[in-house]
Amino acid sequence: RRQLTLALLKPDLCANPNTISKIISRITATNHHNNFEIIRQREILWRQQDAEAFYAEHRGRFFFERLCGYMTSGPFTALVLARQNAIKEWRALIGPTHPWRARMNAPNTLRSHYGLTDTRNSFHGSDSDETANREIEFFFPELNVDAWRRQEEKEAA
Ligand code: PPS
Repeated sequence: RRQLTLALLKPDLCANPNTISKIISRITATNHHNNFEIIRQREILWRQQDAEAFYAEHRGRFFFERLCGYMTSGPFTALVLARQNAIKEWRALIGPTHPWRARMNAPNTLRSHYGLTDTRNSFHGSDSDETANREIEFFFPELNVDAWRRQEEKEAA
């Protein structure tokens, strides 16, 4: 049975439309049967208060201001992805938080290819079902996650 996760393609990527289409192709690549399906996609432009609300749990950390500054620097793309183990698989595909670490230890990941700095790390992925629910609701309040899950269970049965 499939799981949902919330993915962000951050502002540095969205400056170049070609980059986004390349990444979307990699996300949905059909070279194996168990790939991601894009359930929702939306371009987002945040005000400061939106960034501060989304990252509220990080308020007070040393990187909070620069993280919010980065995420309000231009439009970015929010995606809802479905796949078996979507949360874990998406985080595996994007790689470690810090791009230099990704280049050292996980060279085939998206952050290794695209990440620029600790702040401008180009991608986000939910870290649990609970977080995914909250984050999907944040960007796609009209998507009824419970109804989607019931439908998945029906199809799996
Ligand atoms: S933690 O400790 O597990 O909560 O940290 P982590 O999940 O790795 O990071 C939380 C978000 O903060 C961003 N981050 C940073 N931004 C700028 N500079 C530094 N040093 C830094 N460290 C972490 C990180 O990218 C996470 O943002 P999202 O958008 O969730 O990926």
